[in-house]
Amino acid sequence: MHKIAVIPGDGTGPEVVREGLKVLRAVGELEDFAFETVEYDLGGDRYLETGEVLPDSALEELRTLDAIYLGAVGHPDVAPGILETGLLLRLRFELQQYINLRPVKLYPGVDCPLKDKGPEEIDFVVVRENNEGLYTGSGGFTYRGTPNEVAIQEMVNTRFGVERCLRYAFDYCRRRDDKKMLTLCAKTNVLTFAHDLWWRAFQEVGEEYPDIRRDYAHVDATCMWMVKNPEWFDTIVTCNMFGDIITDLGAMIQGGMGIAAGGNINPEGVSMFEPIGGSAPKYTGKGVINPLAAICAAAMMLEQLGEHAAAERLEKAVMHVTGEKLKSMAAGKMGYSTQEVGDLVVEALG
Ligand code: IPM
Ligand code: MN
Repeated sequence: MHKIAVIPGDGTGPEVVREGLKVLRAVGELEDFAFETVEYDLGGDRYLETGEVLPDSALEELRTLDAIYLGAVGHPDVAPGILETGLLLRLRFELQQYINLRPVKLYPGVDCPLKDKGPEEIDFVVVRENNEGLYTGSGGFTYRGTPNEVAIQEMVNTRFGVERCLRYAFDYCRRRDDKKMLTLCAKTNVLTFAHDLWWRAFQEVGEEYPDIRRDYAHVDATCMWMVKNPEWFDTIVTCNMFGDIITDLGAMIQGGMGIAAGGNINPEGVSMFEPIGGSAPKYTGKGVINPLAAICAAAMMLEQLGEHAAAERLEKAVMHVTGEKLKSMAAGKMGYSTQEVGDLVVEALG
């Protein structure tokens, strides 16, 4: 029995999570696995009512579950940073979800903004380091608000953190069994300390993986190649900030935020899965948001929970729905409501 924490969160989060859970129940019946959910009302509304973002007691409970399924974090009435750092980043750090895994895969029938590129060309995975880099909150101000102000935000790279991320990426690339090529995306020509560490660790760890070809691209060039020759890539490994940026680009070339999913993974602990688009306040409550990203996140969660057949079945169902049913991935343009898209996936599972 898998115990899954559900954090519907803000905005359209609850709407897409509802569809994700519906699909999970359906695939659970077909593939014969059971799960129970524990719901947490964390997010902007709770914060506005009580001032609490993530109570320690909730965090301690989350540590004991098998996975976390997250809708969205971000509320128009809450100042930027409070929920992001207090909830999302705190969970990533406290639960040592040191990998952010983001597949960039164009499904059949999905419009791609790149000319002459289709599902054959767009199928790679970004392994983003998720616990370090520019995200640790290390740094500070002096003379804040004065003309002499200094703001420093430090990029933290530990050999330990970088190495565990690289190992995960090499292992993942091996398991993926595609081109067997791992691209390090960094900026060694400018970040001559931080990314020198990445570069050396990449070469040294890479020696243990003679079957995996090592490739390198600066982050700016990576953006260029993702648009020009996305078919080049197999698995990309990169630091936290660069991974954040290139995966938004990745989401666009795979059809947009309506379909892009990711997993915050602690391979030895509790992982958290989420659609990577935000809370989309302007679509909230209208039943027009695309739930496929959340459904794909549920498929990634099944994979992590060891339900491989169910994960595969679910992904196939999603591909059927994109290929045969949906007019567009964009909110309000799918030709179906949020709930109907969930129903279509359930139907396609059969
Ligand atoms: C993401 C988001 C987060 C990040 C924000 C909301 C803190 O953009 O998951 O990519 O920067 O990691
Ligand atoms: Mn992001």
